[in-house]
Order: sequence, then structure tokens, then C-alpha cells
Amino acid sequence: MTTPANTGTPADAAVGTVRPADADGNPFATPAELAPSIAMPRTRTRRTPRSTRGNFELYGWLFMRLSGIVLVVLVLGHLFIQMVADGGVSKIGFAFVAGRWASPFWQTWDLLMLWLAMLHGCNGLRTVINDYAEKDTTRLWLKMLLYAATVFSIFLGTLVIFTFDPNI
Ligand code: HEM
Repeated sequence: MTTPANTGTPADAAVGTVRPADADGNPFATPAELAPSIAMPRTRTRRTPRSTRGNFELYGWLFMRLSGIVLVVLVLGHLFIQMVADGGVSKIGFAFVAGRWASPFWQTWDLLMLWLAMLHGCNGLRTVINDYAEKDTTRLWLKMLLYAATVFSIFLGTLVIFTFDPNI
């Protein structure tokens, strides 16, 4: 009986799996034949029939940097005015707040600070939750709680800034 010619490469031999010759007459399994097949990243499946590559995370990443830069000015300015300028923290009271919110400039400043800090903090915590909560349901509920708290705080803060009545 004749044995089929060994057409395998030395690398194939190193793999070491000898088996009956297949159609190509090679008694060695080639690495390609042995390797487990792994789906390509982002292969379409029934759960992801369409492209999952949106730009949302890119814009989120950019937003964290840009809002951070603006927040430095808004927050440090805010702290300086509240705590240092004009006699420091002791001057803060109803009249002080009423005086500042009589000006559209300070209303806009506080509104911008509120919205940017809340959206920045919300997006930052969303990242933390996505990184650390392992179960799908835990992630879902933590994020629902986060979004609800964010919407509520932004809504309430905005309402107060625009409906504040100094003659209360
Ligand atoms: C005052 C100026 C601020 C600057 C310059 C700033 C800057 C940044 C930057 C660049 C990141 C992204 C870090 C990363 O992706 O690795 C970040 C993340 C974050 N920021 Fe801010 N931020 C500021 C204020 C705030 C405020 C006021 C809050 C809360 C309301 C906040 C909460 C967060 C959170 C929760 C994260 C996510 C942390 C993480 O990914 O580990 N930041 N901040």
C-alpha cells in the first residue's frame, strides 16, 4: 500500500496532528484547518443586523473635554465671586442671590454652569457605569436612575433660575 505524499510544510508538521489524508492529499492538518474560527469584530448578527458604529462615543469624548474647559472658567469664576470677592462667603444671602439673578448675564452664567456640569457629570457617570456594572440589567437600571436624576435636576434648576421672585 502506498502512503500519500507528505505535502505539509515543516510548520504543519510542528502542529503535529497527523490524520488520514484529505482531498488535497495532505496527512497533516494545516494551522488554518486547526485554528478556531472567530467572528470578525462587528460582524453582522441577528442582534446587530445594522452597523453599530455610530459616532456617539466620539462626540461624548469630545464633549467631556470641551465642557471641562468651559467649566474651569465658569466654576472658578463662580467660586471666586461667591467665596472671595466683596467680603467673601459672609455676604451670601437671599439679597445677594436676588441681586445677581436680576441680571441676565448672571442668569445665563448659572444656567450654563448648571447644564454643562449636569451633562458632563451624567456622561462621565454613564462611562463609569458602562465600565464597572457587569450585568445588563444592573447597567440598565443604574443608567435609568442617572438619567432621571439628571433630567430632574436640570429641570428644577432651570425653573428656579427663570422663575425666582425677589419679592417672595
Ligand atoms: C471644573 C472643571 C472640570 C474639568 C476640567 C473636567 C474634566 C474632565 C475630563 C477631561 C474628563 C474625562 C476623563 C476621561 O475620559 O478619562 C472628566 C470626567 C468626568 N468628570 Fe469632569 N471636569 C470638570 C468638572 C466636573 C464636574 C463639575 C463634575 C460633576 C458634576 C464632573 C464629573 C466627571 C465625571 C463623573 C467624570 C468621569 C470620570 C471617569 O471617566 O473616570 N467633572 N472630567
